[in-house]
Amino acid sequence: RGAPAPGPLALATALLAGCGGAQSALNPQGPVAASLAQTWWILFAGSAVILSLVVALALYAVFRAPDRRGHVRPGTLIVGGGVVFPVVVLSALLLYGFHVSGTTRPPGAEAALRVEVVGHQWWWEIRYEGEGAVTANEIHIPVGRTVEMRVTSADVIHSFWVPSLAGKIDMMPGSTNVQWLRADRPGVFRGQCAEFCGAQHARMALLVIAEPEADFERWRAHQRRDAVAPATAERTQGFAAFAKLGCPECHTVRGLAPGGRVGPDLTHVARRYTLAGATLGNNRPTLAAWVADAPAFKPGTRMPSFRHVDAKTRASLVAFLEGLE
Ligand code: CUA
Repeated sequence: RGAPAPGPLALATALLAGCGGAQSALNPQGPVAASLAQTWWILFAGSAVILSLVVALALYAVFRAPDRRGHVRPGTLIVGGGVVFPVVVLSALLLYGFHVSGTTRPPGAEAALRVEVVGHQWWWEIRYEGEGAVTANEIHIPVGRTVEMRVTSADVIHSFWVPSLAGKIDMMPGSTNVQWLRADRPGVFRGQCAEFCGAQHARMALLVIAEPEADFERWRAHQRRDAVAPATAERTQGFAAFAKLGCPECHTVRGLAPGGRVGPDLTHVARRYTLAGATLGNNRPTLAAWVADAPAFKPGTRMPSFRHVDAKTRASLVAFLEGLE
């Protein structure tokens, strides 16, 4: 005797257990995500009913029908099940679809806050319109306010998807797609690139941090500022190494080393929660490991390995980056 087979309820529970948390379309935290989650449940319930019906009819046909031949006229079954039923169900879904797409349409002028998200292999560039504030892999938004996301790509097609807040939208090089979202409560919501974009597609994540208006404004004011000059001897050394190793060719540090746009803007990198497309926590050991050998974490990344650089210089580089608060 083996273990008892799991009942359908246990199976459904197990399948749905993966649907909670910070990156789930079934854990909506704003109006757009809520209407999408509702659509999902309606489709799920509808398909469950229709599947049960079809299975019941199939079982009936196999086990019972031979005894009651002629009980239901085939014509009735074809007209009812093949024409009337689909027309009614599909028309209802169409009307509901119009209603839902109304709620997910961009609000236009109503959005006070516009955020531009540019997809790169394999990270996200975040720009606040008219602000000069540029960051990476982390979008801060005020709770309860409508935010317009304008998404595009610098290289290949990516897709912007933060399931708890909104549906996914493609990021196309050379054109801009628009989506709106709103977080109804504070929290950290994870997003993920949803269009295969190369070797590290799986490691192209981002965080949306919804915070109270005052915290958001404080964050935004800080992001607008330039980086401060290195304050210790080690950090000064690190800044010299940063310039000498060619880091500014790809990375901007506003106020100290402007210009580079190939990699993430590092002006306030030490304040971010994550590194490397939200795949590593941002702390000294991960920063040091990433600087030393990024391709070991993300084969294919444009960030080169600096293993050939001596440990002391690398440590000063990390100290400099840690000073970019
Ligand atoms: Cu970017 Cu997948």
